[in-house]
Amino acid sequence: MSDLVKRSKKVLTPALAFDTQVAAVKAEGCWVEGDDGKKYLDFSGGTAVTNIGHRPPRVVEAVKDQLERFIHAGCVFYYDSVVKLFEELTRITPGNIDMFFVANAGTEAVEGALKLARWVTRRGGIICFRGAFHGRTLGAISITSSRVHYRKRYEPLLPSVYRTPYPYCYRCPMGQEEGKCSLECFQYLETMMDHDIPTTDIGAVIMEPILGEGGYVVPPKSYMERLRELCDRHEFLLIFDEVQSGMGRAGKWFACEHFGVVPDIICIAKGIASGFPLSSFGASKKLMQDWLPGAHGTTFGGNPISCAAAVATIETIREDKLLEKCQELSPWVMERLKKLKDKYPVIGDIRGLGYMIGIELVLENKKPAPELTSRLLKLCLEEGLILISCGTWSNVIRFIPPLMVTREELEKSFTILDKAFQRLS
Ligand SMILES: Cc1ncc(COP(=O)(O)O)c(C=O)c1O
Repeated sequence: MSDLVKRSKKVLTPALAFDTQVAAVKAEGCWVEGDDGKKYLDFSGGTAVTNIGHRPPRVVEAVKDQLERFIHAGCVFYYDSVVKLFEELTRITPGNIDMFFVANAGTEAVEGALKLARWVTRRGGIICFRGAFHGRTLGAISITSSRVHYRKRYEPLLPSVYRTPYPYCYRCPMGQEEGKCSLECFQYLETMMDHDIPTTDIGAVIMEPILGEGGYVVPPKSYMERLRELCDRHEFLLIFDEVQSGMGRAGKWFACEHFGVVPDIICIAKGIASGFPLSSFGASKKLMQDWLPGAHGTTFGGNPISCAAAVATIETIREDKLLEKCQELSPWVMERLKKLKDKYPVIGDIRGLGYMIGIELVLENKKPAPELTSRLLKLCLEEGLILISCGTWSNVIRFIPPLMVTREELEKSFTILDKAFQRLS
């Protein structure tokens, strides 16, 4: 174990769990260098953040430029980088979302979105999904259930939260066979309004359009369409938490574009500023302008440097055609990963969109295989590939290369994965 890791363990709270023992000294593009000189292909993106790689040149330049001018504004004076960012977000977010709040972490974007929904609708009830992850502050963990561990000893949490099963077709929560159902999970959601909470008390439905920490699950398009229709019918605000699935991760600016479904409020963080702390949530002007000055606020949110990094991140994705590149390569990536599935029965399912791909490891009868997953990740790390897991049982590998990854780098990752699966069996 490196000296830095040893020193860290002495002073960092054990509550902060790390995925590897790598002590990074440098990172560039897809690559991270450890303090032992070893180079790793980083397909973790620092937990799905560095969507356009480490230290993207335009971002580094924009940050240097902002640093030369000023560092902090704190809602006392106006500044250009935040305005430019919101003008860009207006262009890339779906539907008529054109007004934004700015914060630091994903969990803050979620908290703010819930507050906005309650304010606007004057209804306190929130519907969320079993298996979802929305963050670690108290409001966000109240709607998080990807693992019970996140909630342990923190009760009582926010009241008026109602949970419906996520459409996780590989493990259908309603016991149906994949592809042969009548969306019984959606029917469950509808019956909640006969039993649990009247429609007139529900302000918002919050959903990850692709389940992230809960196991990289893609819902059926028909589910998403029906959900939008349900929200319209009862005047619930539909909040999409695109903290993990957004900013190009799924091959489009936002994952909801795959379903043709537009939310009323969108939460954005992680990939937005290539690693600088920044989050945001947006809605239409019509909705936002109901919020009175001071009804919500922030000191550090929208740091000028983070905003400059975000603008440069968006420009890089657009100008380098990274979404197009991802869309072109991702079917081939899927095909290559599916070849591994044909070869190794421990791979139960491969699913995803763009470069948000999950590889679920199982034993007989789809029993989750967390130990094998952990061993596999260690074997990959030994060979120089950083991957991380997710899922309720930690048995899903996130395959999340940055958008600018090359075919050669992907080939290298397939070779390492193949070797690791071989050693596992
Ligand atoms: C979908 C989703 N929402 C919210 C969050 C919380 O973000 P943060 O850790 O930046 O607070 C995460 C983090 O993984 C996430 O994946």
